[in-house]
Amino acid sequence: MSITHTENMSTTGSYKPGALDSRVSLLPQGNHLLSLMTILRESKTNVATFAEVTERIGDQLISAALDLLPSKATTVVSPTGAEYQGIQETAEVCGVSILRAGASLENALRRGYTGPLSFGKLLIQRDETTSLPTLYYSKFPAEFASKTVFILEPMLATGGSACAAIDAIKEAGVAEENIVFINILAAQHGISVLFDRFPSLRLVTAAIDEKLTPSNHISPGLGDFGDRFYGTH
Ligand code: URA
Repeated sequence: MSITHTENMSTTGSYKPGALDSRVSLLPQGNHLLSLMTILRESKTNVATFAEVTERIGDQLISAALDLLPSKATTVVSPTGAEYQGIQETAEVCGVSILRAGASLENALRRGYTGPLSFGKLLIQRDETTSLPTLYYSKFPAEFASKTVFILEPMLATGGSACAAIDAIKEAGVAEENIVFINILAAQHGISVLFDRFPSLRLVTAAIDEKLTPSNHISPGLGDFGDRFYGTH
């Protein structure tokens, strides 16, 4: 299977070449990104630092996701009076956060996208006994179906909540090929589950881990993202 341009074949980190296909954009595993991921994974990192590093990784993820979008040719005149043949992004982007951790990536999208932007929210929770995800709340903007949707969810473990989110977004009329899942850390299992259900989806992630613990946490992982971002243990 082929790997997209954002992956640089570094052997550092948890990613194992061959596990991906072209629908997955793994950020280049350079030393700077790996050092940021190390700070997130360190259990002693405090809430302020965790949030700041999330913002910086979020900027890289949004930039890689925006590279997937269509654009059109445009000509501008620079201060020297010369014409420059450039491009202009054309998509209308809607960021949909899966609460509560997904909200941590909203600022990066606000900073990164200068075109038409809106936000939606989904509250999905897993039943303690059945382990099945239930959708409790959804709110989408007007003309949602015509937008490119960036699902904002820093952790992809079993894929249960992610599938429920994509089901809700597709039921609201968005085409699967117009959905990009933006993620900081994915388990290989979760990636397989997502693409089995949604073959036209695209995923942008900063790191991939091989294992899930018996309690369905990603391993080595970084713990409960929401607890670490919001300081609620
Ligand atoms: N969600 C988290 O916050 N952490 C995990 O390890 C898995 C899902």
